[in-house]
Amino acid sequence: MELPQLEDLGDLTGKAVLVRTDFNVPLDGGRITDDLRIRAALPTLQWLQQAGAAKVTACSHLGRPKGAPDDRWAMDPVRERLAQLAPGVELMENLRFDPGEEADDPAFVERLVAGQDAYVNDAFGAAHRAHASIVGPPRTLPSAAGRLLAKEVEVLCRMREDPARPFVGILGGAKVSDKLGVISALLEVVDTLLIGGAMCFTFMAAQGKAVGDSLVEPEQVDAALQLWSSGKLVLPSDVVALGPGGSSQRTFDTRADLPEGWRGLDVGPGTAAEFTDVIEGARTVFWNGPMGVFEDERFAAGTRAVAEAVAQSRGFTVVGGGDSAAALARFGLADEVDHVSTGGGASLELLEHGDLPGLEALRGAPNARQTMGGGR
Ligand code: 3PG
Ligand code: MG
Repeated sequence: MELPQLEDLGDLTGKAVLVRTDFNVPLDGGRITDDLRIRAALPTLQWLQQAGAAKVTACSHLGRPKGAPDDRWAMDPVRERLAQLAPGVELMENLRFDPGEEADDPAFVERLVAGQDAYVNDAFGAAHRAHASIVGPPRTLPSAAGRLLAKEVEVLCRMREDPARPFVGILGGAKVSDKLGVISALLEVVDTLLIGGAMCFTFMAAQGKAVGDSLVEPEQVDAALQLWSSGKLVLPSDVVALGPGGSSQRTFDTRADLPEGWRGLDVGPGTAAEFTDVIEGARTVFWNGPMGVFEDERFAAGTRAVAEAVAQSRGFTVVGGGDSAAALARFGLADEVDHVSTGGGASLELLEHGDLPGLEALRGAPNARQTMGGGR
């Protein structure tokens, strides 16, 4: 996908540049527990400073405050970390303290771009949101993709359009409903799609199996059957479940019914071995979503096995953001994959639609229309 790059902004000497970053970092109290998203924006911020920009101002959302100032989501901890990592870069207050951000309010956009000469979007993790700071500035300012955003788009689009085969997808997480779109889209391109996480129980229920007290979305059963008919899905052959009262856990073969009172919380050892085999044979791997409740050591083995298999794969490996990236980091494997996306929702939406509101906006920017001959 052709996007205007930093070089397309022209001479930046003495200019003011607004950079939309995704500094939506995990916080524990007021402490940042993982600064990956801040570090990931450094190449762009430093490039702009070295290009002679007089002023570089970053802006981001943090958490989901509801359009009003909220101390829990104040930018202070981020500002402090940013000052250490990229001295001289300013940071605006949380964009979502103003209702104009999510509403893409023109008056709010005007305040954002006031005094700015150029705009850079390096917020891949938020590029699926048609919010003011993502789609507003490129309507008037010369605009470009930051290095992080450009890399994410290149990797994910290449995987979607021209994957080395076999291409194995691995999806986990709780709900089929959240991932319906991306499952359909992935089924178009993958050779095999391994399903773990609580969402496997909706697929099992669709096949008429009793799943005990496991999480099922009854309204997704028809959709699950439809997806199953692709013939590309692989479901767990065993699961680890927590017993009545939460006292004991046991592994169950999924060919049999899960008894009443038992709740499946991880894939079992048989599944872990089968998934590992499939992943070993892949030349392209995309993983999003944990296999179980990996934060609880009793239900971490399935996710750990998948993380290790992905890390050891000789194929091209991409891990979607959010929980699966957190799992990789927890198992110390984050450096062992080819690409860890900084965007959870954004990477899934890009795989599903092949485009995002933030990318469309960049292609429509005044400088892009001149150099690339049109909005697309
Ligand atoms: C994320 O963490 O997924 C991104 O920063 C987007 O945040 P949002 O889901 O609150 O829009
Ligand atoms: Mg999200």
